[in-house]
Amino acid sequence: MIMRSTIAILVFACAVWGTTAAAAAAAAADARRRSAQADYIDELYGTEDLYARVSDNVLEDARLDVPDLIRKYNYPVEQHFVTTPDGYILEMHRIPHGRDANNRPEEGKPVAFVMHGLLSSSADWVLLGPGCALAYILAEQGFDVWMGNARGNYYSRRHRSLNPDSIRNTKFWDFSWDEIGHFDLPAMIDYTLAATGKSKLHYVGHSQGTTAFFVMASLRPEYNEKIVAMQALAPVAFMQYNKNLLFNTMAPFARNINKLASTIGVGEVLPNNYLMTWAGQSVCMDEVVFQPLCTNMLFLMAGWSEGQHNATMFPVKLGHTPAGAAVRQLAHYGQSIHENEFRRYDHGSRQNRNLYGSRTPPSYNLKRITTPVFLHYSDNDSFADTRDVRRLYEELGAAVGLFRVQLSTFSHLDFMWGIDAKTLVWDRMINLMWATEALEGNAQSIE
Ligand SMILES: *[C@@H]1O[C@H](CO)[C@@H](O)[C@H](O)[C@H]1NC(C)=O
Ligand SMILES: *[C@@H]1O[C@H](CO)[C@@H](O)[C@H](O)[C@H]1NC(C)=O
Repeated sequence: MIMRSTIAILVFACAVWGTTAAAAAAAAADARRRSAQADYIDELYGTEDLYARVSDNVLEDARLDVPDLIRKYNYPVEQHFVTTPDGYILEMHRIPHGRDANNRPEEGKPVAFVMHGLLSSSADWVLLGPGCALAYILAEQGFDVWMGNARGNYYSRRHRSLNPDSIRNTKFWDFSWDEIGHFDLPAMIDYTLAATGKSKLHYVGHSQGTTAFFVMASLRPEYNEKIVAMQALAPVAFMQYNKNLLFNTMAPFARNINKLASTIGVGEVLPNNYLMTWAGQSVCMDEVVFQPLCTNMLFLMAGWSEGQHNATMFPVKLGHTPAGAAVRQLAHYGQSIHENEFRRYDHGSRQNRNLYGSRTPPSYNLKRITTPVFLHYSDNDSFADTRDVRRLYEELGAAVGLFRVQLSTFSHLDFMWGIDAKTLVWDRMINLMWATEALEGNAQSIE
């Protein structure tokens, strides 16, 4: 019953999407661009007296796009555009140095490349504001911070020749996190290294930002040489024990969803009222929670735990997520759950044979990953179950650290937004980054 309605709703959601205007497709430098969900914020907080206590300052943060948000807090920011070999135009955001500490541009600073998860964007790393958001903390600590945006999200919704808004030709959306790892990450990493003159950078990824890294480092092992170390927050590769309702109901139908979606000609996932209503009813049935939570696809997928949630900043989270994805990104995770393997996208046997030379897709060879990988995981993560993380740790070529968060309620989104993320996760992670930097022989830049 639930399974069937999921598919119907997903397809319906896709069909309805076609009319949405694509603000992001306009020139990215356009000063009038707002946050990914600014219109929704207008609607939600514009009329209801109920929400009048939200401060104007918070609502402003909820509506600004990432570069303007960073500027508002007097941090230096740069926009960079990277074109992938297959034509996607990706927008990166850089915070080259701190505001209070380490606040001068310097040559040779260590580079932290930070990569967001599913339905997210570079906004994840700044929306909590100075002192709380990871990108600012890294900049204050002396890192040159580069934030990626995967193809298809709000900031990277452009292509040399394909139109993301075309209803007739949805080729733009023919990708999963396989392509994000295979093409986007290498292009952004090469660009970042060229721009900074460095030979290596530190990779920090959350969720799908870790999945895509494992894809890159196994399919294109030469990139292992360009990474000092990989910090994997809430790492996702194997999904046998995934407890996510939305994904688990989708999993057996992963290929059908894709087929249905492409039949009607649209490949982008955008949450809309139909999906929200269904999912909200299923997930929020017995709980008294703030309604927008029940209709936000990201929270529905990643799970919710109240303890680490900064309620003041809730409107800002709603303003910047969800930030867009292709149907195939979800379908590929669905396949991972269904097949219980971490392998390439299953296009169906005929096309698999053309693409991979075999009827079934090959597994990603994790033994080819030679970058030192540090896995940071927690007990209450519905997406990255502790048992799946352990399996990943055992199968990785060079996993060197496995760190369990010392708080049993810590959950998937807390790795980027948790009130105690700094003390429970990031402080240790940053120590590991400095330690691995020193091992590289680049210690001279540390004061
Ligand atoms: C919530 O975020 C705001 C903005 O960064 C910060 O000032 C405040 O201290 C945070 N609250 C908690 C409980 O961490
Ligand atoms: C884990 O999180 C869920 C909400 O996602 C919550 O209901 C549950 O109590 C939490 N469990 C633990 C052990 O913290």
